[in-house]
Amino acid sequence: MAENPYIGNPPAKFEPPESLSRKEAENQMHELEEAVEYHNVQYYIKNNPRISDAAFDRLFHRLQELESEFPDLASESSPTQRIGTVPVDALKKVKHESIMLSLDSALENEKIRDFHRHIQASGDWGKPLYVLEPKWDGLSIEVVYEQGEFMRDTTRGDGRTGEDITKNIKTIQTLPLRLQSDVNLPSFIAVRGEVLLSKSGFQDVYRRRVEENQASFANPRNAVAGIVRQLDSRQVADKPLTIFFYEVLRIEDGQFASHWDKLNRLQEWGLRTHNLNQHGSTFDEIEDYRQKLSDQREDLDFEIDGIVIKLNHLQGRNTLGKRQCSPRWAMAWKFPPKKEVTRLKDIVVQVGRTGILTPVALLEPVHVGGVTVSRATLHNEEEVQKKDVRPEDKVRVIRAGDVIPEIHSRIKEPGKKRTKHFSMPAKCPVCQTKLVREGAYTLCPAGLSCKAQLKGRLEHYASRSAVNIDTLGDKVAQQLVERGMVHSLPDLYTLSVEEFESLEGFAKKSAQKLFDAIHENKTLSLDIFLCALGIRHVGEHIARVAARAFGDLDSLAQASVSDLERIDEIEPEIAESIVHFFQEKENQKILKRFEKLGVHVKPVSQPSKKTLSGKTFVFTGALSRYTRKKAQQAVESLGGRAASSVSGQTDYVVAGEDPGSKLDKAKEEGVEILDESDFKKLLK
Ligand code: IVH
Repeated sequence: MAENPYIGNPPAKFEPPESLSRKEAENQMHELEEAVEYHNVQYYIKNNPRISDAAFDRLFHRLQELESEFPDLASESSPTQRIGTVPVDALKKVKHESIMLSLDSALENEKIRDFHRHIQASGDWGKPLYVLEPKWDGLSIEVVYEQGEFMRDTTRGDGRTGEDITKNIKTIQTLPLRLQSDVNLPSFIAVRGEVLLSKSGFQDVYRRRVEENQASFANPRNAVAGIVRQLDSRQVADKPLTIFFYEVLRIEDGQFASHWDKLNRLQEWGLRTHNLNQHGSTFDEIEDYRQKLSDQREDLDFEIDGIVIKLNHLQGRNTLGKRQCSPRWAMAWKFPPKKEVTRLKDIVVQVGRTGILTPVALLEPVHVGGVTVSRATLHNEEEVQKKDVRPEDKVRVIRAGDVIPEIHSRIKEPGKKRTKHFSMPAKCPVCQTKLVREGAYTLCPAGLSCKAQLKGRLEHYASRSAVNIDTLGDKVAQQLVERGMVHSLPDLYTLSVEEFESLEGFAKKSAQKLFDAIHENKTLSLDIFLCALGIRHVGEHIARVAARAFGDLDSLAQASVSDLERIDEIEPEIAESIVHFFQEKENQKILKRFEKLGVHVKPVSQPSKKTLSGKTFVFTGALSRYTRKKAQQAVESLGGRAASSVSGQTDYVVAGEDPGSKLDKAKEEGVEILDESDFKKLLK
């Protein structure tokens, strides 16, 4: 594949198709097919695009162009023949237990009133007439339990068939592997729910991907879709995903009195429903509910994009029936999109700590969904060209997935003279070094001699995910660099209290506090130190992976690319970046200086022996030193498994304060019971 010219650095222009001989066209088409397929996989499956969308589109169009010029050479398996389908062949396709319908939706009151009138006119469905639910903005899935045991999980797909994501969904802590309660358990049940990534979780994932120079997801929903379809379930396990359930697709040996009863029963079985679900019967109640959720929307940790109104009466649902792909007994009332129009004032270029230049749009401040937005990222040069935005243009701004402001599109203003189109500068706006291109990115190669990069590195070094020096943020870093007090990271340890006091906004006490924060925190574990160094492609997560694999700084510094590549999750470009960092003379000097100035890098214990391999733990009651999640993680990191209910498979029940019925069950079954201190000893 390496010699395929369209994989590494695809050209921006192609020669006219007529100038190619048949043989040349055939070769080029073959290479293009291979390249498009490769980039598709990078984009959809690996979530790691190697080229910009614009460059991809060019390849795709070129292939289409040649196919129409030489139709007899076009291959049936060409990627142009499957536009819109996602090539996730590695995920098995599974037919759903029952068709997964979608919802009819409306933005305006009138359609909702019509729906309400229609329901009222169709029969006497008793009270409460409806169940009102949040409309989650995540990924819809089907989960199947047989005899209470978790069997499989599928995405909605086209409604009839989805992709098998069992392995990945199984890693979500809130998904029970066994249904709780022994009474009234159906022999078979297929439930429907929504997988969600919390807003805060999304911020973490976003930051990590940016740090590791991977293409980031636009919003939590895209992030969930990308995450759960990853082929490596370990990568799913450490993401804060959750599920809320809201429907039953099929049930055997069981029935519900109403939808409300169904939701209660799901919750009882351990299939989480949300406590914002509520009754309602009149249009006013529906409207109040929508207003309530709209008011709470900003504060909820999960994305919602409206409410769902569902008939509570289940027999009534059958009577009302369905349309082609949506039921007549339910309706979504969506919130208006968080989109606003404003004017773009300027496009500036920002230099990040790794030297990547990002065009940023400065906007006339505008309120979008409760937040004032005055800046929006434009990602890279091609993105600006694709959106064709220029200073003085009128633009639509959206808050993608509630979080990050983005320019959605330009609003055309016929007859208005426009300013010149944007292009990246040739020189770094901060240090004037000539810029270089790397795929879709533009880089300043000056490293720490570029003040913007130095400031970014310093700020990153002090940030919470790194050394955590509380008061050293953006403004302080800026001053330390501007005033020439810090030329390289270790300089931080040479500054005196008086020097800090000379900074703007500092007095004796705050200067002493900053000094102490720096000096009291000089023993750093390898993963923290590694992350703090700001090596390209090495964020918090990769730093942890590398630190665990090598244990101490010297071993890591001496590792070769192939040593590093052997480690799961360390991709070739990450390995190269790490090796390159440690080989640079300048960096070697920096590391020596850190050591001289008393910064001690503590080794990280290498993967512990899997001492709890094969052992199953059940927790009941509250532990004082661990949250439930931490305790489960501790067990899992030693190869054990945490289950939610006691069975013949359980090896230990860990009982904390106020244990529940699981403790009685453990006694009945003769399972070994540990208190918190026994548990702690076992972990050691
Ligand atoms: S019920 C037959 N309830 O909205 C009714 N859907 O097209 C099936 N959604 O992809 C859906 N929150 O994933 C239902 N409380 C909720 C929901 C919900 C979100 C999603 C669902 C579907 C989309 C509607």
